[in-house]
Amino acid sequence: MSEELMWTEKYRPKHLSDIVNQEENVARLKQFVQEKNMPHLLFAGSPGTGKTTAALALVRDLYGEDFNRYFLELNASDESGINVIRTKVKDFARTATMGEVPFKVILLDEADNMTSDAQQALRRIMEIYTDSTRFILSCNYLSKIIEPIQSRTALFRFYPLKKEDVVNRLKLIAEKEGVNYDEHGLENIYDMAVGDLRKCINILQAASTYGKVTEETVRKVVGIAQPKEVRDALKLALAGRFVEAREKVRGLMINVGLSGEDIVKQIHREVLSGELGIKEELRALIVDYVGETEYRIVEGADDEIQLSALLAKIAVFGNKYVGGEG
Ligand SMILES: Nc1ncnc2c1ncn2[C@@H]1O[C@H](COP(=O)(O)OP(=O)(O)OP(=O)(O)O)[C@@H](O)[C@H]1O
Ligand SMILES: [Mg+2]
Repeated sequence: MSEELMWTEKYRPKHLSDIVNQEENVARLKQFVQEKNMPHLLFAGSPGTGKTTAALALVRDLYGEDFNRYFLELNASDESGINVIRTKVKDFARTATMGEVPFKVILLDEADNMTSDAQQALRRIMEIYTDSTRFILSCNYLSKIIEPIQSRTALFRFYPLKKEDVVNRLKLIAEKEGVNYDEHGLENIYDMAVGDLRKCINILQAASTYGKVTEETVRKVVGIAQPKEVRDALKLALAGRFVEAREKVRGLMINVGLSGEDIVKQIHREVLSGELGIKEELRALIVDYVGETEYRIVEGADDEIQLSALLAKIAVFGNKYVGGEG
């Protein structure tokens, strides 16, 4: 897929007003545009929720179409170390701004990939150039950003997009691209990538090459899939039918060739998606245990044993919280 044909870029909102959801964030950012002033910002949230998009839209709305003169984008993971960042910031900050906005903007993506020493150095750089520049730091994990940076930035949380928003966005894109689809196909895309709009749009684009976006073509491109099977296994476990649940999961591993990690991820999505109709408290308990299972599998524990243990745990929880419902 060539770069200019990527729908994620083609349909990246250009202005703050075009951003889907994230209403509170958008309203606060619009305020900065109006005032032509802002503090340093920290955008935190899971992938594909609009952090980079919001930063780009903000600078476009602030400076107009030639925003690139006042805007520097750095990626903490690409730039080899804090010294490179320091040099680039220094060069960029040296020339004054011409327009009405008295500062330039630096977007530092993936700031949570920096070591805490590098973040300490970054914090000093931010302070030195604070008259002429504003930083927007973006991260997936707020907990990996050091406290002194957190306290010097205004925090914006980006939440995973809701199903309705994702499906509507996919519909709009499909219609503009003249792609055939059915509603289930679009919902299925959401199920595969809960809340990550970038991933959803990529799946849509890939599935469209099959002529029509349906549950089946979506499954073809995603490869792993089988959300229904995983959901069924979870329902069995919740109903206390542990042995059947385990057989189902074994089948997915052996016949479909899913790894333990694939299945754990899918379980995680299912539990969070709310489709199982279980109570908040039970959901939290299961999610907690799913996290532990994933950790163990990644660390090298046996997939099958870990998944069995997880299902057993869910069966126990199910008995306790759902009772004889199943
Ligand atoms: N809130 C949104 N409204 C409209 N489109 C969005 C939104 N969030 C994401 N997208 C779409 O997904 C693509 C990727 O979004 P973006 O680059 O903003 O994600 P991100 O939050 O910066 O993710 P990462 O943490 O991976 O950097 C955009 O190009 C756009 O097409
Ligand atoms: Mg980004």
